[in-house]
Amino acid sequence: METLRVAFLGTGRISDLHALAYLDDERADIVAVCDRSIDLARARGRRWGVAENHIFSDYHEMLAAPDIDLVEILLPHHLHHQATLDAIAAGKHVSVQKPMALTVAQADEMVTAASAAGLSLKVYENFIFYPPVQRAKALIDDGEIGDPLTIRIKSNSGISPTEWEVPTSALAWRLNPEECGGGPLVFDDGHHKFALGWHFMGMAEEVHAWIGSTETAPGMFLDAPSIVSWKFPGNRYGSLEAVYSPGLVLDTSHYAQDDRIEITGSKGVIWVTRGHGKMMDLPPVVLYKDRQTRSFSDMPVGWEHSFINSTRQMIDAFFAGDAPQLTGEDGREVLRFALAAQESARLGQAVKL
Ligand SMILES: NC(=O)c1ccc[n+]([C@@H]2O[C@H](COP(=O)([O-])OP(=O)(O)OC[C@H]3O[C@@H](n4cnc5c(N)ncnc54)[C@H](O)[C@@H]3O)[C@@H](O)[C@H]2O)c1
Repeated sequence: METLRVAFLGTGRISDLHALAYLDDERADIVAVCDRSIDLARARGRRWGVAENHIFSDYHEMLAAPDIDLVEILLPHHLHHQATLDAIAAGKHVSVQKPMALTVAQADEMVTAASAAGLSLKVYENFIFYPPVQRAKALIDDGEIGDPLTIRIKSNSGISPTEWEVPTSALAWRLNPEECGGGPLVFDDGHHKFALGWHFMGMAEEVHAWIGSTETAPGMFLDAPSIVSWKFPGNRYGSLEAVYSPGLVLDTSHYAQDDRIEITGSKGVIWVTRGHGKMMDLPPVVLYKDRQTRSFSDMPVGWEHSFINSTRQMIDAFFAGDAPQLTGEDGREVLRFALAAQESARLGQAVKL
């Protein structure tokens, strides 16, 4: 195969960032799009050069097209499981947005189906591909902070006059736990934070969470302020703090949120800032060790680069016959982690993984 022929299933808000790497890579083409809103599918399909007869509103019709190699699934979470199984049954490789499913049993079924069909299954996690995160990982792997002991992740959500437009339909399913799988901050966005914990430190063995609730508009509740703490094997720990501040004004081109990571090792500390928001006027990576602070700014900091790098890794892996990152099995582990946080908050006690 010379070109990876890609179909988009769901052309909502985030599809714009998914398209970037494909549009820029001569080894891949976006050849089909589907959205139940045909107007949306047409608008994006035409912008990306998709032929009119490959713009669909029924995804079963799209999956029947023989000239599609891989389906990018960008649907609300409750649809990921069935759409993935349907794409695999139609003989297509799959890249499904995080979280891959609502339950571990569904994730298992997806992994088994892909493996039985000999098809690739990527769980689309992009935060681990954010260039400052990649630099921090390289510095840690080079031993700059010694053995990583703790990871602390902070998400500040607020408001922004510069944020991109999010359709109310994209908020509606996120605020419905049956469609989202949990809350928008701790489960949906939290997946990225649990993936970061997993990426830097390995799989947690115990999770304890407090998930709060804030009314952001009449009848609309966000799952914040929240704290999730967890224990990794070997006396190592991590935490996520997610806060929504209605009067916190942020600069962003995407969501009104700023994320920061602090990893402490046996001989140093590393900080990663930025992400969607640009809250602190600091270099994106700062390292402290041996009584000295070093800053790293020689990397792109736009959040879109996390998507470009994630997709590029998948295209590289596809042509090299390697595994995409995350694999279905990895995605299942991160899902297990995210679900444990929901379960812990519900039970009011720690949950072992
Ligand atoms: N990686 C990230 O940082 C990131 C950021 C945002 C969203 N996401 C993920 O991307 C996915 C989509 O999120 P979004 O923000 O673009 O949501 P969205 O609501 O804007 O887009 C979803 C689209 O799916 C379409 N759709 C729903 N049911 C359909 C069906 N049966 N057939 C065809 N189309 C259907 C909707 O019309 C909509 O356009 C979610 O899994 C979300 O978690 C990831």
